[in-house]
Amino acid sequence: MKAWVTGAAGMIGSEIASSASKWAPDWEVRGLTRRDFSLLDFDAVTAAFKGDSPDVIVHCAAISRPVDCERDPHLARKTNVVATRHLAHLASDRFLIYLSTDLVYDGRKGDYIEEDPANPLHLYGETKLAGEDAVRQHQNHAVLRTALNFGASPRGNASFNEQMHSALAQGKNFQLFTDEYRCPISTTETARAIWELAKLQVGGLFLLGGSEKVSRWDIGKALYDRWSPLPGKIEPASIASYDGPPRPPDLSMKLNKIQALLSFDLPGFHEWINSNPDAVV
Ligand SMILES: NC(=O)c1ccc[n+]([C@@H]2O[C@H](COP(=O)([O-])OP(=O)(O)OC[C@H]3O[C@@H](n4cnc5c(N)ncnc54)[C@H](OP(=O)(O)O)[C@@H]3O)[C@@H](O)[C@H]2O)c1
Repeated sequence: MKAWVTGAAGMIGSEIASSASKWAPDWEVRGLTRRDFSLLDFDAVTAAFKGDSPDVIVHCAAISRPVDCERDPHLARKTNVVATRHLAHLASDRFLIYLSTDLVYDGRKGDYIEEDPANPLHLYGETKLAGEDAVRQHQNHAVLRTALNFGASPRGNASFNEQMHSALAQGKNFQLFTDEYRCPISTTETARAIWELAKLQVGGLFLLGGSEKVSRWDIGKALYDRWSPLPGKIEPASIASYDGPPRPPDLSMKLNKIQALLSFDLPGFHEWINSNPDAVV
């Protein structure tokens, strides 16, 4: 089997590409970065696709930070929607896994299931949802609404745990919401689940995250307590006091649909960090 992983220089794509030797050792896997070609160069994408003829595409590449989407909406739409549509169409008789996001929900309900209606609060979520629509034209493709990922990014500055550590190391205090909930998952577990799905080739919409609902404060406190003392301090806060762009308060999710397909139990946040004491986080 041959696979492409787009966005292989990114936080999640790099983990998926590098863990192929562990989870899909017999596969020929090509991790694609901008150095190969831009996904906006549709002729180059088409030519490479015809040359490699991958059986599976794991599509991670995106403008993935909400702030970058707001700064350049045209680029966000072209990358997250138009390039995704092009790839999904090229691979219409192959299996494509599209990494979407829990940020397609508004966070008012919590305990989300696949059937819950999406209602993104900002452009990033909107473009990812439009990317989903392009992928879902093809029954055989899979869309993963992925929760907040933590872990090590290639440049050491992309994950929330790395950004929090860096701020605290510089002596900055870091506010964490006690009333904003997520189901965080390690990039290593995301990658393992994706390789299993790639082998099963089951299409449809799935939620993928960790099995524990935790507040931002719970997450940050657990990390802070395990790090060597840092000059900055963590401070509890409420999203009610936040005056920035809207934030979904509760993106917790039920994992029954994807869990039924997997050979392993998706771990919760505390379970994962306790069983991986030497991990970068
Ligand atoms: N991280 C999370 O917590 C999270 C949660 C839910 C869903 N997701 C989704 O999961 C996927 C991966 O997220 P991530 O955190 O790994 O993002 P990331 O670190 O920003 O990686 C995205 C990658 O896409 C590449 N890319 C962007 N435009 C491209 C283009 N035109 N041609 C080729 N490559 C291009 C970027 O390359 P450059 O570095 O060269 O710009 C980057 O390496 C995204 O689709 C994101 O929406 C992430």
